[in-house]
Amino acid sequence: MPLIRLDRFISERGEFTRSRIKELAAKGQIRVNGTVVKKSDTKIDPDNDAVEVLGNRISAERFRYVLLNKPAGYVSSTEEHDGPTVMELIPPEMRTKNMFPAGRLDKDSLGALLLTDDGELAHRMLSPKKHIPKIYIVKLAEPFQSKYVDLFADGITLTDGYQCLPAKVCSVETSERLAFVELSEGKYHQVKRMFAAVENHVEVLMRVSVGGLVLPEKLGFGESMELLHKDVENLFKPRDFEAFCRDFSGVFSAILINI
Ligand code: URA
Repeated sequence: MPLIRLDRFISERGEFTRSRIKELAAKGQIRVNGTVVKKSDTKIDPDNDAVEVLGNRISAERFRYVLLNKPAGYVSSTEEHDGPTVMELIPPEMRTKNMFPAGRLDKDSLGALLLTDDGELAHRMLSPKKHIPKIYIVKLAEPFQSKYVDLFADGITLTDGYQCLPAKVCSVETSERLAFVELSEGKYHQVKRMFAAVENHVEVLMRVSVGGLVLPEKLGFGESMELLHKDVENLFKPRDFEAFCRDFSGVFSAILINI
């Protein structure tokens, strides 16, 4: 790996400007491999040198990826229009200046939301051609009906005439009002509108998986965790819906039943 300037390394990985980095270096607040470095144009090896600013280690990863378990009441956007945004929930040490939510969840929806500053990955992820499947657990107003399985598989027609791609649904044993649904597209309010089209109503919606990535049980609402680039590549791995429903119905139904 070629050497790069210390100020470039730090500014690309956080919210510090080059002038602020210069100032911090001059004050002895930057260390490389444990040694104070006072000149911000010093060359470093980005893969092997350990860089600390104000005592905090700067991750060598070029881009940052954060998985948030979104609570209700936050908008999936970087700008406030209709209430607080999910950006407020990301701890400062995980946030970078160019970070944005790669995907959308409605303001009242819960669950897995990836935030990143890696525009190329977000583009790959959101590209309709990729069809990355997303799994949601829903709490319905009326009991789940077995006929939904075929209706969803055939492609639901929404009230505006839009013909959805085939989707998968399965009931959850512990409650007749809980179901998992897997979609490979993301139209506005799609899950809610699909259940409305079969005369039911989604009361609570939580995204529990995006591609091969599953929302970890230990991540509470409003909490976030950093992912490595290699974990993010799991997004593009296939997942078996039936096996997912079997393996995760206990975990996610226990969360939803209390909401
Ligand atoms: N479908 C919806 O209706 N809402 C979401 O937030 C996500 C999918």
